[in-house]
Amino acid sequence: MSANQQKLNAARAAMEHIEYDWVVGVGTGSTANHFIDVLAESKDRIDGAVASSEASAQRLGEHGIRVLGLDQTGDLPVYVDGADEATKHLHLIKGGGAALTREKIVAAASEKFICIADSSKLVPVLGKFPLPIEVIPMARSYVARQICKFGGRPVYREGCITDNGNEILDVHGLDISNPVEMETRLNQLVGIVTNGLFANRPANVLILGEDQGVREIT
Ligand code: 5RP
Repeated sequence: MSANQQKLNAARAAMEHIEYDWVVGVGTGSTANHFIDVLAESKDRIDGAVASSEASAQRLGEHGIRVLGLDQTGDLPVYVDGADEATKHLHLIKGGGAALTREKIVAAASEKFICIADSSKLVPVLGKFPLPIEVIPMARSYVARQICKFGGRPVYREGCITDNGNEILDVHGLDISNPVEMETRLNQLVGIVTNGLFANRPANVLILGEDQGVREIT
């Protein structure tokens, strides 16, 4: 089965966690896009959605789903999003689509974070996928030098400006055997807006599309 079909199956399975009249937090990327399309089939059941990016807000709007701001809604019952890598401990790397900051905000404001992914995203240890870090533009070189001291190799993501007007460094070669500790260390560096480790606030459920069907890890 293709990765795309696995993503769609995971997105469909996530719908079983959505209750009537909820405002739903919605992520960014190709898997989240499947979720938006599936959500649109039941749009009369929900009260609206909070998007983690301009792209997702636009897709939701095109489907006629009411898009709300987090300031209007307060905390959300659920957030559904994809990931670049996930472990069985529900720690994630996110930010391949450069939406990590808003994703982390919506995840933080949600009671339940449901991560949906194809089976290739499940890894024993995070870090083969380069860790995205959103930086304030004037701090980019400073942050890159600090990251080198952490043992990472930062690569500037050319031509990428985030929805917040910032830039992205993709960091290769970091030892992320302790994701909570690495996320916390990176959080201390001035000039970093957000790092793409979701470990202090991991997913609550990982729904993986697999060849045999859908598997939920909690
Ligand atoms: C965007 C993300 C995405 O969730 C991540 O990149 C996975 O993308 P896809 O669903 O296309 O595989 O973090 O910033």
